[in-house]
Amino acid sequence: MIEAIKKIPSWELLIKAAEIAEASGWHLYLVGGVVRDLLLAQTKAENLSITDIDLVVDCCQHAADVAAGVKLATLLQQYYPAAHLDIHGTFQTAALAWHQDPQFGSLGVDIATARTESYSYPAANPEVSASSIRQDLYRRDFTINALAWRLTSSSEPPLLDLFGGLLDLQAKQIRVLHANSFIDDPTRIYRGARFAVRLGFEFETQTAVYIREAISSGVYVEAARSHQRTPALQFRLKTEIKYLFQVNYWLPTLKLLANLDALQCVHPTLKLDLNLLHQLRLLNRCVNKFDQAQRIVHWQLQLDLMIASLAPEYRQPVAKNLQLPADRIDRLENLDRAESQLKSLLTNYERISEVVRLLRKYDQETLILVAIRCQDIRSTYRQIWKYLTVWSNIQPILNGDDLVRLGYQPGRQYRQILDDLLAANLDGEISDRLSAESFLSKRYR
Ligand code: CTP
Repeated sequence: MIEAIKKIPSWELLIKAAEIAEASGWHLYLVGGVVRDLLLAQTKAENLSITDIDLVVDCCQHAADVAAGVKLATLLQQYYPAAHLDIHGTFQTAALAWHQDPQFGSLGVDIATARTESYSYPAANPEVSASSIRQDLYRRDFTINALAWRLTSSSEPPLLDLFGGLLDLQAKQIRVLHANSFIDDPTRIYRGARFAVRLGFEFETQTAVYIREAISSGVYVEAARSHQRTPALQFRLKTEIKYLFQVNYWLPTLKLLANLDALQCVHPTLKLDLNLLHQLRLLNRCVNKFDQAQRIVHWQLQLDLMIASLAPEYRQPVAKNLQLPADRIDRLENLDRAESQLKSLLTNYERISEVVRLLRKYDQETLILVAIRCQDIRSTYRQIWKYLTVWSNIQPILNGDDLVRLGYQPGRQYRQILDDLLAANLDGEISDRLSAESFLSKRYR
């Protein structure tokens, strides 16, 4: 580990932070994912790119100073003025961030005082108080994430492994620290699934049992019902779903979550059946192809498609629980109506211009959702995709300036004329300026 850690570009920064902590009589630890990844990188001989670092300050025998982490971050920033410092008052944590820095690239360093968390009721927001590094590690999710590496000097070995995290790394296991962990925070199930797939690990047997017990206890259904009490939890759940759909291994992760019955955290009736699975894969393929510029937020559409698979009466409450913005909630509410309108109208239209006129009335995301959900009606599916990828980009052959040049009186009829020109173009009646002008002269003398 020590060799791997010395190779990271931020090593010098960590040494500086440790010096500052030592001067105050504190200990400083590298904790969480970065320790896990550094230990794994040792065995894999891979080049590790570290963009997020978590540091914890332990005030040791001194009176626990809740603000120690913030103080350290503030002092550290004086040595690195290029870093942006953010202080989060509620939990007394600080974050230093570098963006495209010549030395550190894009790097975020979170610094917190060692703390204990307690949950006054299942899935509540945790109450936080300053404590020791040992208690800080105890509040964490998995043994492989509860490893700490001391950066300050001591006669003790630098690696603090209170729960057998190192053995679990070797055994490739995701093991939870305590039985109530998933009751306290269901988003840990999603995190665990993500780590399992990303690292090629498996849930340890008892951990999988705890997950199933937490889910079947009904605690998440209750949390969703009383979502006003747990807005932070619902927000974190949405964030986890976002992370899930943002990684390229989203499909095996989602399948693992479904096998664990963990989609129930979103809604008790949410199931990854073959239909939804097929829709999500198709959406991913189509959107990647069609929206390479990433104008559409892919993970949001994946989530909307998942919510749309619920019975209509559940869609709005789930979307509201997850704090989706109003336009997405409206879209989900109106989806069935849009779907039946499009299905019935599109079958009657033969001219491309008619199809375009109809589809223009809907936003892009609604059209994508409808196309994916109607993919078994091939003609509807094709018409919508053709519209999204080709027809919606076609412009009239002539523009307003051309109409002026041709002697048409400027005014409101320009819109109608240009619309007719576009329709004629889409329907193949005109194909160049000459045929467009002749079309105009016949229709608008
Ligand atoms: N943590 C936790 N429970 C959560 C979220 C985070 O116990 N619900 C703890 C874990 O110890 C984790 C650390 O906080 O290692 C940092 O969280 P985060 O940065 O989200 O995750 P990483 O483990 O660093 O994973 P990643 O590599 O995906 O960033």
